[in-house]
Amino acid sequence: MAITPQQRRPAPADEPSPGAEPTAGAEPTLAAEPTPAAESALAPSPAAAAPPLLEVRDLIVRFGLVRAVGGVSLELPGGQFGLALVGESGSGKTTIGRAVLRLVPAAGGQIRFAGADVTALRGRALKSYRRAVQIVFQDPAGSLDPRMRVGPTIAEALLAHRVVPRKQAPERAAALLAEVGLDEAFASRHPHELSGGQRQRVAIARALSVEPRLLVLDEPTSALDVRAQARILELIGRLRGERNLAYLLITHNFGIVSELCERTVVLYLGMVAEAGPTAALLAAPAHPYTRALRSAVPEVDPALRRSRVILHGEPPDAARPPAGCVFHPRCPLAIARCLTEVPQLAQVRPGRLVACHRADEVLSGAV
Ligand SMILES: Nc1ncnc2c1ncn2[C@@H]1O[C@H](COP(=O)(O)OP(=O)(O)O)[C@@H](O)[C@H]1O
Ligand code: SF4
Ligand SMILES: [Mg+2]
Repeated sequence: MAITPQQRRPAPADEPSPGAEPTAGAEPTLAAEPTPAAESALAPSPAAAAPPLLEVRDLIVRFGLVRAVGGVSLELPGGQFGLALVGESGSGKTTIGRAVLRLVPAAGGQIRFAGADVTALRGRALKSYRRAVQIVFQDPAGSLDPRMRVGPTIAEALLAHRVVPRKQAPERAAALLAEVGLDEAFASRHPHELSGGQRQRVAIARALSVEPRLLVLDEPTSALDVRAQARILELIGRLRGERNLAYLLITHNFGIVSELCERTVVLYLGMVAEAGPTAALLAAPAHPYTRALRSAVPEVDPALRRSRVILHGEPPDAARPPAGCVFHPRCPLAIARCLTEVPQLAQVRPGRLVACHRADEVLSGAV
């Protein structure tokens, strides 16, 4: 599986002015949960009326001729919830994450965060959004400044968003290191003195430092060895409970989603092939692509070892997508109709969406 190029973490959007201290009442509007009083003023039944934390509708992102994302919709309710974006390299996962973070512009569709139109955010509301949504990249070596020690790296984020007064930053940084399982002595080390897993812990501590409401985890374990992978997944699992975390977990590996994600969206060539509750989708995929991805990870279900489906070839060039079903050149179940007719995303079971002409047959195990 190809690994996407290194991506350096963007510098904090708003550097603190020298000596800046947090001011009382300067709490950003999107970074914190609404207070109970504010909620009750807005609606008598806040739980029923609350919009999803993240709502993406018909998102389109283009890079020249390449349609990296071709009309993707997804929803994340917030609270303790993991939404997986699964697909091979080039399927548009990172681009969706970057569009959510406003690092790439959307050519169409909508992104809403707690009900607010993300593309329309300006000034203080945008700064508040930049705090509320944090990203952890695949390659921790590329996302941490090699010249900066770990403590100041975390303190920088704390001060940029005025989370604590300057004097308290080292202490808070040490507490965050402890939270991700690193001794406070790590604060004085440089990234090159750490293992890949330790660096990724620092990247997670830095992202958590500003108390985000949503984390985008872009292949957070793909650059790590197997043992470090397992430990980072364990850490994410622990933090999700302790911090009531909502996250988008981007991965090409189905093997890591079952424990960490309630819902999964499977992407192929910038479009949703299938979406649904993770357990149901893994137990009985309704799209041949989901079936192939799942069978590449037999440990997801040992009973599958016998029914392994090999996925041949590479995804097609995104600049020249195939006619009909974009998956048809690689699909073992393609029929004549698939070559000309684009399958629409449709509900096959409550909460389960599939874009395949033969979804019912696949789901029932008839093919
Ligand atoms: N900055 C960019 N410029 C041009 N094409 C890009 C850029 N970023 C991504 N792409 C293209 O968009 C498509 C989706 O890429 P990406 O979102 O990185 O996929 P994934 O994260 O699933 O591997 C690919 O065809 C990729 O080559
Ligand atoms: S629509 Fe046809 S080609 Fe596409 S996934 Fe379904 S069976 Fe395969
Ligand atoms: Mg990627």
